Amino acid sequence: MVKKGLKSGHTPVLLAETLKALGVQPGGRYIDCTIGGGGHAGAILQQSSPGGQLLGIDADPNAIEIARERLQPYGGSVLLVNDNFVNLQSICIKYDFFPVHGILFDLGLSSLQLNGSGRGFSFQHDAPLDMRFNPGQKITAADIVNTTPETRLAHIIRTYGEELQSQRIARIIVRERPVKTTLQLAGVIEKAIGRRGRIHPATRTFQALRIAVNHELENLEMALRQAVDVLGYEGRLVVITYHSLEDRIVKQFMQKESRTCICPPETPVCVCGHVPALRIINKKVIRPTPVETGLNPRSRSAKLRAAERILNRDDAELAGADEGVIDVTRSPGWRRPVLLKKIRMAFLAA
Ligand SMILES: C[S@@+](CC[C@H](N)C(=O)[O-])C[C@H]1O[C@@H](n2cnc3c(N)ncnc32)[C@H](O)[C@@H]1O
Repeated sequence: MVKKGLKSGHTPVLLAETLKALGVQPGGRYIDCTIGGGGHAGAILQQSSPGGQLLGIDADPNAIEIARERLQPYGGSVLLVNDNFVNLQSICIKYDFFPVHGILFDLGLSSLQLNGSGRGFSFQHDAPLDMRFNPGQKITAADIVNTTPETRLAHIIRTYGEELQSQRIARIIVRERPVKTTLQLAGVIEKAIGRRGRIHPATRTFQALRIAVNHELENLEMALRQAVDVLGYEGRLVVITYHSLEDRIVKQFMQKESRTCICPPETPVCVCGHVPALRIINKKVIRPTPVETGLNPRSRSAKLRAAERILNRDDAELAGADEGVIDVTRSPGWRRPVLLKKIRMAFLAA
């Protein structure tokens, strides 16, 4: 049963499915890379008690404050860090928080950021064109809209918004500059391509600008790679995406990391020497039920993918002959202090 978000005003998406995919257990250690309003995090802490620990990260200082208030009952079991998840590995080292049993990414933005935060994420409210998750970051959406050359602007709108009318939109935006607010931009786009169907014509362009401002796709790719190293054996990586661009990255990453060979199909004999690090848990992507989408329309586009860290040849070598590969493979990594100590040392030395 999905509960309404409490004080945060954000309802966590695919909550029961996330807890199941993470395999949350008492005493477990988890990282929520996108803590937002703390909805998923609160449920993880509840299910992992007694003894559970959670490291929560968010680029938005407001989100950290909201999560701090919401997660107050869990006291010292929670550590909150205002940073970008692209720095996941260094955050884990700094706070000595690894290896972990599970890592969650619930991507995109929270309802709180979308609705009336005054940060320009939505064209439902008039606000300056900002769109930064972290207000300390330099470049805003207004900078991109008002200073980017037309062809580059069209490229951003096409690539990150999958908008077929990107050239036309970019041409009119450049003609109408300066464009300073969300409603002004939405109006310019509507003028450029008109209104057809139920979806507002500015939807794709707003998505494109948000992705560009926050380097969302690059950061996701880099963070996923780091997440694998932070997971203990049989630790779970769970990612919830909200549009096809981020879902493609997650899908391809999990597929690649679970394959024994990543040579091009035409290669007659494997030469890549690739060593898999993950096992995909849900072959079919997990989507919200009609009940959830009815209660929380924001969940409509959500897709959940999950994978488990496996012990591979390289890790077995790292663990050392005294551990014994077969023995180690059969035991959950986090119950093996010797193995963990060695991996930890190798991780710090890397
Ligand atoms: C969908 S919300 C998470 C909601 C949360 N799961 C909950 O239940 O309340 C996504 C959050 O991720 C944060 N975020 C997005 N990209 C980020 C990044 N690269 N680094 C850190 N936080 C990020 C946003 O600021 C936002 O607060």
